Amino acid sequence: MNIEAAFDVRAFRQALGQFPTGVCVVTCLADGEQLGMTMSSFNSLPLDPPLVLFSIDRRSASLPLWQQAATYAVNVLSENQKDISNRFARPLSNKWEGVRFEQGRSGGPVLPGAAALFDCEPWARHEAGDHVLFIARVKHFRSFAERQPLVFSKGRYASLQPTEFTAPLWPLDIHY
Ligand SMILES: Cc1cc2nc3c(=O)[nH]c(=O)nc-3n(C[C@H](O)[C@H](O)[C@H](O)COP(=O)(O)O)c2cc1C
Repeated sequence: MNIEAAFDVRAFRQALGQFPTGVCVVTCLADGEQLGMTMSSFNSLPLDPPLVLFSIDRRSASLPLWQQAATYAVNVLSENQKDISNRFARPLSNKWEGVRFEQGRSGGPVLPGAAALFDCEPWARHEAGDHVLFIARVKHFRSFAERQPLVFSKGRYASLQPTEFTAPLWPLDIHY
């Protein structure tokens, strides 16, 4: 079914934008090429095993290479990394030109200054309409709690503001 027949696509996007996310640059090394892509589709799955997910648009030029990658590095951007986010959100052939990076534990490039870093290996891949869903197993991680994460909400970047909101009440030891 054509989505436009079922939904007002703009209204659908707007409704999805009411759900704020962080922003990541996911990187990998595939067929000798360094890839990096800005993604807000990153999320956590179970803790045991430690799984995470992200999805890639089928129109992405680099999708065939992503499907070959043996490892991924998820760089959770900090609030002062909007330029990095913008750079890796464009279909450029020279995304890495002038970008400072280090070699991560999994061999692919990682970005200094990120708020957190997850080194992962592929776990599963699923067809998901006009996207491909990647599920990955976390092998190593680092967290820089003193850095504030970059937020994406309503189609714009945002920063976290301290509020009086308290932690949710929940009977289980949750990680969300
Ligand atoms: C905040 C933000 C979040 C994004 N999240 C995703 C995502 O989760 N999946 C995706 O495929 N593209 C996402 N994009 C767009 C991709 O970054 C962009 O299409 C990609 O870099 C193009 O890469 P290519 O060289 O493979 O065509 C996002 C862009 C922005 C600005």
